[in-house]
Amino acid sequence: MLVEKNVPLQSCNSFGIVAKAHTLVRVRTEDDARAAALDPALSGQARFVLGGGTNIVLTGDVRPLVLKVEIMGRRLVSETDRAWVVEAGAGESWHELVRWTLAQGWPGLENMALIPGTVGAAPVQNIGAYGVELQDRFESLEAIDLHNGQTLTLDASQCGFRYRDSVFKHLPSSQQAMGLAGRALITRVRLRLPKPWEPELGYLDLQRKVQETGSTQPSAQQIFDWVCAIRRAKLPDPAEIGNAGSFFKNPTVSPEQCADIIARDPGIVHYVLDDGTVKLAAGWLIDACGWKGKSIGMAGVYDKQALVLINLGRGESGATGGEVMTLAKAIQTSVYERFGILLEPEPVVV
Ligand code: EPU
Repeated sequence: MLVEKNVPLQSCNSFGIVAKAHTLVRVRTEDDARAAALDPALSGQARFVLGGGTNIVLTGDVRPLVLKVEIMGRRLVSETDRAWVVEAGAGESWHELVRWTLAQGWPGLENMALIPGTVGAAPVQNIGAYGVELQDRFESLEAIDLHNGQTLTLDASQCGFRYRDSVFKHLPSSQQAMGLAGRALITRVRLRLPKPWEPELGYLDLQRKVQETGSTQPSAQQIFDWVCAIRRAKLPDPAEIGNAGSFFKNPTVSPEQCADIIARDPGIVHYVLDDGTVKLAAGWLIDACGWKGKSIGMAGVYDKQALVLINLGRGESGATGGEVMTLAKAIQTSVYERFGILLEPEPVVV
């Protein structure tokens, strides 16, 4: 177990915000995680589990003990006539896992290509894109309980997956299910890729690709390429422009509330869900309030996708977490004043 002091975190968060970890432990094995949990010198401290740092806003130096997860490894656990089950270490890159499974001939993750971040972070916010969410491909995961060093194995229901949400985002005191934030350190994730493979082409952007190319029965690799192209066209590459993907969740409203908004703003982008409630495109709401391309300090709203907040600079001359949150609050206020909807941030604010 490697314990480091005063570790710069700029390269460990995709916003590129300058901040330090007072104490950071690199977790490369399950034993490292167990040792961090049980070490008397470290026990009693609050902990913050850090994956790829692609869904966080750092608002200052991090005082809780930072556990940086770097557990690697990928393998096929089993293959039956109904599915391939694949396992990956929490420190693996999500996108590289997607690419690798396709190269092995195991399709099923292609719609979630190019989502930044690590495998261990994927269940935390139940990542999803282009019609598929992690929970649709989830088998189980292993985690170390940081309270006692024990290994936990959780199935989908125990993870409490919801839209961009899970038990790993909630503190034990929260009312929703069993909170495991700061307690469970995810070490390995198992995914179930069902057979026979069927393309998921319901999302509008993918339907457009089918029409443009005339390819009505695309392969998984073709869908992977389409998703990469769609994402590259509208989302900034964190290696070039600091960002944390979508900054707000798409809100859900009642049909009455939606009808009321449509009466005033007929152009609003909305989708009726199975339970009758209506999901609104937060990007559209923010765009309608005129935020695209606007900024506060060095924090800005991306001009190709209003749902993404970006760092207009780098390092010391870039945005602070405070500027990002001030911009986020200003956006929340103007969307609330115009539509009566309070947008909920997606990233974890540290
Ligand atoms: N829109 C606008 N103006 C904008 C942005 C969007 O009018 O500035 C409209 C678009 O025209 C479109 C609608 O809003 O009709 C939805 O936009 P898009 O298809 O880009 O998807 P999204 O709802 O903005 C969600 C996820 C993304 C995911 C895509 C594709 C959330 C919060 N975001 O974005 O996830 O990649 O769908 O499935 O659910 C992420 O979570 O970080 C993320 C990037």
